[in-house]
Amino acid sequence: MSSHSFTPRLTLADLRKLAATRKLAMLTCYDAAFAATLDAAGVDILLIGDSLGMVVQGHDSTLPVKLEHVAYHTAAVTRGSARPWIVADMPFGSFQASPEQAYANAVTLMQAGSQMVKIEGGEEMAPTVEFMVRRGIPVCAHVGLTPQHVNVFGGYKVQGREAAAAERLLASARALQDAGAAMMVIEATPEPLARQLAEALQLITIGIGASVACTGQVLVLHDMLGAGTGRRPRFVRNFLQGAGSLEAAVRAYVDEVQAGRFPGPDHVYAASG
Ligand code: KIV
Repeated sequence: MSSHSFTPRLTLADLRKLAATRKLAMLTCYDAAFAATLDAAGVDILLIGDSLGMVVQGHDSTLPVKLEHVAYHTAAVTRGSARPWIVADMPFGSFQASPEQAYANAVTLMQAGSQMVKIEGGEEMAPTVEFMVRRGIPVCAHVGLTPQHVNVFGGYKVQGREAAAAERLLASARALQDAGAAMMVIEATPEPLARQLAEALQLITIGIGASVACTGQVLVLHDMLGAGTGRRPRFVRNFLQGAGSLEAAVRAYVDEVQAGRFPGPDHVYAASG
């Protein structure tokens, strides 16, 4: 018998159990070395985000990212980590055409090592969510500021400020939950709307520029370490400042999130403004 200690990967059931006692800490991750560091620091969920197009590849949006890029980074992150739940982002153009297209491409990401796929969009994506979940693929929805819609939104803007837009967002979130999504990223919405979503939904809600009321929080790894030179959104906090090491920075993030201290008022959006 092997003497290796074996850490089983978290399951959705484990995440739900943990969420009953504390908040969940999620970060984006793209390689094996960081995956090991984030795992050691106690991060619960690793997202191979299509943000890799911006922070790793140097594009000015996530649109150029291809399925094979996400699959490549997913395999590396899976090899580098043992405990965290693994979510892989479905890139622009890999899931919007039909549920069948989404399913076939999600299989590639699941076979690369992910346990769940994330798709951006509102209630128009509900049939796709249902199609995938019924065929064995857990889905994380992503609502609010969905960066793949940057050219429709006219920039990276807070979503759901007007009453009609807030209503549409609530209706979308309910439709995606009813279709079987088990997790939902809520990005860049006014705090009161994000709080309303977090309180109304039963699935796991993950906030980014949303509300501390969400089940958990996510940030882009490079942003929370202060890497790169671009302008940072309001919701980003640099956890490396004063931390002394990468692992200490990530531990500080995990502690702040799990205790419900991050995001504070400086890292969320007011109802107007
Ligand atoms: O691609 C990404 O990193 C994301 C997070 C910002 C949630 O979707």
